[in-house]
Formats: sequence, C-alpha cells, structure tokens
Amino acid sequence: MSGVNEIRSTFLDYFRKNGHEVVPSSPLVPRNDPTLMFTNAGMVQFKNVFTGLEARPYSRATTSQKCVRAGGKHNDLDNVGYTARHHTFFEMLGNFSFGDYFKEEAISHAWNLITKEFGLNKDKLLVTVYHTDDDAANFWKKIAGLSDDRIIRIATNDNFWAMGDTGPCGPCSEIFYDHGDHIWGGPPGSADEDGDRFIEIWNLVFMQFEQVTKEERIDLPRPSIDTGMGLERIAAILQGVHDNYDIDIFKALIRASEEATGVKAEGGQRASHRVIADHLRSASFLIADGVLPSNEGRGYVLRRIMRRAMRHAQLLGARDPLMYRLLPTLIRKMGQAYPELVRAEALISETLKLEETRFRKTLERGLGLLSDATENMSEGQSLDGETAFKLYDTYGFPLDLTQDALRQRGINVDTDGFSAAMERQKAEARANWSGSGDAATEKVWFQVRDKVGTTEFLGYDTEKAEGVVTALVRDGSVIEAATAGESVSIIVNQTPFYAESGGQQGDAGFIYGDGFVIEVTDTVKRADGVFVHQAAIREGKIQTGDAVELVVDHERRSRMRSNHSATHLLHEALRETLGTHVAQKGSLVAPERLRFDFSHPKPISEDELRKIENIANEIILQNAPVNTRLMAVDDAIEAGAMALFGEKYGDEVRVVSMGTATKGDKAGKTYSLELCGGTHVRQTGDIGLVRVVSEGAVAAGVRRMEALTGEAARLYLEEQDDRVKAIASALKTTPSEALERVNSLMDERRKLEKELSEARKKLALVGDSADGAAAHEVVNGVNFMGKVVSGVAPRDLKPLADDGKKQLGSGVVLFIGIDESNKASAVVGVTEDLVSRFSAVDLVRVASAALGGAGGGGRPDMAQAGGPDGSQAANAIAAVKGALA
Ligand code: SER
Repeated sequence: MSGVNEIRSTFLDYFRKNGHEVVPSSPLVPRNDPTLMFTNAGMVQFKNVFTGLEARPYSRATTSQKCVRAGGKHNDLDNVGYTARHHTFFEMLGNFSFGDYFKEEAISHAWNLITKEFGLNKDKLLVTVYHTDDDAANFWKKIAGLSDDRIIRIATNDNFWAMGDTGPCGPCSEIFYDHGDHIWGGPPGSADEDGDRFIEIWNLVFMQFEQVTKEERIDLPRPSIDTGMGLERIAAILQGVHDNYDIDIFKALIRASEEATGVKAEGGQRASHRVIADHLRSASFLIADGVLPSNEGRGYVLRRIMRRAMRHAQLLGARDPLMYRLLPTLIRKMGQAYPELVRAEALISETLKLEETRFRKTLERGLGLLSDATENMSEGQSLDGETAFKLYDTYGFPLDLTQDALRQRGINVDTDGFSAAMERQKAEARANWSGSGDAATEKVWFQVRDKVGTTEFLGYDTEKAEGVVTALVRDGSVIEAATAGESVSIIVNQTPFYAESGGQQGDAGFIYGDGFVIEVTDTVKRADGVFVHQAAIREGKIQTGDAVELVVDHERRSRMRSNHSATHLLHEALRETLGTHVAQKGSLVAPERLRFDFSHPKPISEDELRKIENIANEIILQNAPVNTRLMAVDDAIEAGAMALFGEKYGDEVRVVSMGTATKGDKAGKTYSLELCGGTHVRQTGDIGLVRVVSEGAVAAGVRRMEALTGEAARLYLEEQDDRVKAIASALKTTPSEALERVNSLMDERRKLEKELSEARKKLALVGDSADGAAAHEVVNGVNFMGKVVSGVAPRDLKPLADDGKKQLGSGVVLFIGIDESNKASAVVGVTEDLVSRFSAVDLVRVASAALGGAGGGGRPDMAQAGGPDGSQAANAIAAVKGALA
C-alpha cells in the first residue's frame, strides 16, 4: 500500500469502517461561502453543519477534498515548482464529527491509522497542542504513550485553527513526522522550525467555537472534530521520499512531460516540469468544476495558472501546445477517484489547447520585450511597473508570470508601479466612457463597476450560492440599506442568477440573509458585467456588506433551460428542412414558452412544420449530453457553430453542442452547434418534448415560430386531446371516428339544406287557392304576385320568379327573401308581353328603395336588388304595386 490511490482509499475505508459516511469532495468553487475564492480545506463544505445551520443525515463523515490554494487569502502559486511541498492543487484527507465524538476519539483514530494502517514508526512522530489544552496533551500521553518532550505546547495561532475572520474555530493539535537528521530543520516551536526536517502531516481541530464577529466568539452547539491531512505529504512518507514531487502521481506526470518535451527533469529544467505537473492538476480540476479562463475573478486565477505553466513549457522548448497532451496521464491516475475529470475530459483538453495556442502568439514577443528591458539589470534590481503593465496589457502576461520569469535572475518587479499603470488605464477608460452617448443612464452602473468590479456568474453549475452585497441602488443612486416594503437593485460579488441576455430572460428567486427575505423578480446585466438583481424586500433590512444566500427559482430556470435548448434544436431543424438561408432574427426564451424569429420568404407548410418538430423531438429522444466548450470565435465559426450576424462576441466564446445528426452530410456528426452564453439542459432528454404551437409572418421575409416544451407541451397536448374527446362525446362517437362522423353530418346537412330550400320554393308558389295556384291580385289590369319568402337563398329567387311568371302567364312577380340578419333580397320578373309597359329593373329599384337600399340591376324581364331592412318587405310590395298603378 503506497500508491496515492491506495493511500486515499485506505484512509476513507478506515473511517468508513468506524461509522463515518464517505462524502464526495465538494466542488472547488464553494457554493456555501460568500468570499472564499476556492475550496481550500476539507471542512469548507461542512461549515454550516458545524454551526448548526444545516443538518445532515450523519454525524460522522470522511472525505478526500480537492483543494486549490492560488489567488485569494491562501496563495501558494509563487512558490510552486521551487519547493518540495507547495502545490496549487492538493487533496486533503479528513474525518469529521458533528457533535458526535470529540478529542479522545479523534486522537485515538489518528494514532491508530498512522501507526497501524499506515505503519509509521512511532519514534518518528511528535505532536503539538495548544498551550492551554491539557486535555489534548493527556490524551496523547494516554493513547500514544508519547513522552512530554514529544508533546509540544504552542501558544500561537498555529495551534488555534480558524476558518477565517468568522466561522467555526478551535484549538488544534498537529502531528509531525521527522524525515531525519540528514535534512535541516528543527521541531515545531524551535528556532529552526521552518526547515524541512519536521513536516506537519495531520491537523486535528477541536471545533468548539464560532467566531461570529471579530469581537464575539460563542460556543458551537456541540463540540466537533475537523481534521486535515495532506495526501501528497503522507504519500511522500509512505513512499520513502522527502519531496512531494517524487510521489507516484507526480512522477507519472513529470515523466509524461519529459517524454512530450524530450527534456529531462534535471538541473534548471526540474522546476519547469514541476510547475507543469502541478498546474496541470489545478487547471484541469478547476475546468472540470466549471471555471473557464477569463480576465476576472476565478477565471483569471485559472488563466494565471495556465499561462505560468505555458511559459515553463516554452522554457522546455515545447513548440506546440503541451499541457493537453499530458491530460490522459492525469486522468489515468486520478479519473477513478474523481469521475468529474473523465466527464469533462473534452472540455479540459480543448480549453488547455485553446489557451496555449492563443497565448503562444504573444508569449515569444513578450519574452523578447522582457529580455530587452532587463538586459542590463543585475540581481536585486527591479523591472519598472510600466513595462510589467505593458506585458500584461499587450502580451497577456499576468504579473506573477513576469515575476516568475525574472525570479531565476533575482530581479524584482515594481508592483506599485504596475498597479499605478493599471489604475491610470482604468481612469482613461472611464473618462472615454463618460464622453459617449448612453453614459448618462448607465452612469450609476459604471460607478458601481468601478468600485466593486463585475459580478462572477456561478449559475452554469449551481442554482444556489452565497455572496456578499457589494452595492444597493435605487432610483439611479447608490444607497446603503433598504428595508421591508422597498424595491431595490442588489449587486453581489457572485451570483447563480442568470442576467437577461441572448434572448433568455433573467432569473427570479430569493435572497436570504440574517433577518431578511428578499424576492428577486428579474436579473439584468449592466455596465458590461454588473449583474443587477431587481428585488423587493419582503422582510427585514439589507445593507451593503451583508452576507447573503441566493436561491434561483428552480422550476422557472428549468423551464428556461428546456426552452433554450429546444430553440437550438428547432433552429437547426429549420435549416435542415427549409435550407441554410434560415438565420436567427431574434428569440425569446421565457419560462412558459419559446419564440424564434428567422428569415424565410414564404409560409411554412403543415408538412414542413411537422417535419421540423419531428427532427427536434428525435434529438430529444437521443437523450444526448449537452456539451459546453470554450473556443476562439474564429475556430468556433469554422467548426460550423452558428453565430448571430452583427452580434459582438469576445475573443473566446462558449459553444453549446447537442445531439448527433442521423441523416445527410452531417450524419454521425454533432447536430446542433451554436455560440451561446445561455443556460441549457444537461441531456437533451431533459427537454421532454417540443411542440410548435404557432407559425406566421412578422415582417417581410421574417417568420415567427412559437413552441412549448416539457410539461407545458404535455399540458397543451392534453388540452387538445380533451377537446377531441369532448367533440366525440357530443357526436356520440369515439375520437377516432369523430372526423368521419362530422363529414357525414356535413353531407347530410348540405342535403337537408337543399331539400329545405326546394320545399320552401314550392311552398312560396302553392297552396293559397283551391286549385293550388299561388294567390295573386290584379292591379291596374295586370296580374301581380308579391310575396315574402324566408329560408330561400338569394340565388334561388330568380328561378322562383321564373316559376311565378309561368304560373301567371302574363303579369309581374315580386319575391323578397329575408335572411337571418334581416337583410332583404328582391327579385322582380315581368312576362314578355308586358316588358314594353314595365321594366323589371325600374320596379326592383322601387322595391330596393323601400327596403332601405339603392340600385339594383338586370334585364327588363328579370332584375334583382338588395336592401338592408327586411322589416320593410310589406312596404316594398305596396310600393311596387303603386308603381304598377
Ligand atoms: N481545517 C483544518 C485545516 O485546514 C483541518 O482540516 O488544516
């Protein structure tokens, strides 16, 4: 048992056997701490369990925790590569008791594990205790049988462990290993304690207190235990080496680096290989946990780590990107213990390669400038801040890279001068900005950004995180506090809330803090990176500087994730079905639906629409993982990623891909590839279902499609289904036979209508007199038949008039039909023998006038007209009669 993997599992197994829950490492980006840059100890994920704020189903736990110490309070970056024990990334093995066992059992477990399981020589071990902690000293004596000179009392903070200015804390006891007198150094507390002979391997913290504020310290609800052992250090001892970089995992990484560069890890080159091995670990784990290189916050720390390693790769003479070629070795060694590394392999590999490719372009030139600027300098002198800033600004050299490059020659960098140059540039940018047009409305946001910086977005990986309120704004001014009932814009150093952009709406949710509850209704982005939570204070009072917990409305966000991913699928399906002229013209990703505007010159047929929808649903059913990568814009577009015309992109962009094409030239390749900063589902199957509910034109050549996904799509279909069932039930049939039933009812109705019309026509002309002939009168010696008929269609009035004329033999007929809306149609017929005396056209105009209309037309023997007022039918008949007289 001596490989790192075996040591790790021996540790975890030991505590599992002793009733501890084996808890996975928490991510490197802490969700439960407002200010901590990276997780830097095993207890971070349990912080709130110690203080009693959070309950867990176990009271004993053990972990192997990923830790990064670079940037922020604990920063080991500068020393890495040059010492035996500094790392930016390391693993901390720990056991925890949450009010369960305390000092005695903690000491007993630790002693058992290192002397029995690990088999360390008791004579090489010594411990420290806090100077007043007699209990701990006595337990060590009793359990380990250590003599008094091996139990060293320390009065300093070295033996009183605190998480930070506030949080759980308590006295601690550290176990040291003596690497032997061939190495320089003295025991803890001695003048030579900084030497490398006595190495601390395990810290047992007796968590007893909570530092609430700087002044106030209270007892924890129950005394607890937090221990931390550096895996790399214990591995060095168990593998019989003194230097952490000589343990198996580092040996493998360094060997891979030697093979890839053809340069041995000896002499001056040794540090470079070590830097590369160490930085590969931290960079890969950070990327796997969602950090991507950027120019701010955590992303910038990652960039610094990566670029520092890349300079060393260059020092080793590597011509092409090196780091990503070492990744398979890292995954082979650590992938089993940390599966996130395996899952993110493609992302890590591409991100490393991209960063190295891009940085190489300026690295050589920057190093040239640096060597010119320092040509005549000697040890102890300083490079001016201006040049260091130019290297930073123009060549992408982080300050620590410049310092690292000059370290071997003992040349320093004027960091004050560097900061002054940086400040000057910011001031210039500010001045230029305030000269531009939209400055007035945006002014307050730029003030905020200048003062507190941009917001770090954590929401790709979490919907819940802690942060610190950096500013409050109301009515365009910065305010200090806001209370219940007020509306306020809240700015926090980091947030899981997505701010509206790229068509996706901002997140809503809640912000909680000590004594306050705040509802966030929307989140927007201002001043190029300040996330503004638009909020209403429900309870209590919030102040700048408050620590808060931010919780995104999960339901709402999930629906937006589905709608956003479905938008990408529909976009590609549209292009596949209608042609590549289809380009996005706008989109809206809301929780309840998605809307997509695109260029296309004509309506989309039902068949096309169905095809588009089917394709999108096919990819959903693939349940393919949705992958995000960071790429250079040009590379992304070359790889076929869809980008918005006219959109401003940074040098590097997130590229979201999903699904596999099954048909056409793209068969077997990625189905959808788009530049996108939005939030997406993890697997396409999470979308559930997509259903297009409308399609139409919005402008010349631009069409709009609206669609629903998941539960909303299901409910929509359910509604449609209910409707069909209701129709079937009204028709007294089954849904599957409803259409046939409707068609036959329609046929029947047409037949009945026809029959009815015939019957009415007949009725109009028969039945008034004994011989069955229609009644008529004689006006001025002329036979006249005037009738109002209902239910006879206007087109049937003329045939009716013909029949009437036939019946009369000689005479004038007038039929007035009235429809359901009381509109009248009139037809006048005049038999041939009378046309020289009466014109049907004139007569029908008389009728029309009486019916409130005007005009009418036809021939002298048959004419037709209309009128809006059917109630005047009798008057119309009288008027025509009058005209005959
Ligand atoms: N929290 C302590 C440390 O970081 C022990 O785990 O050293």
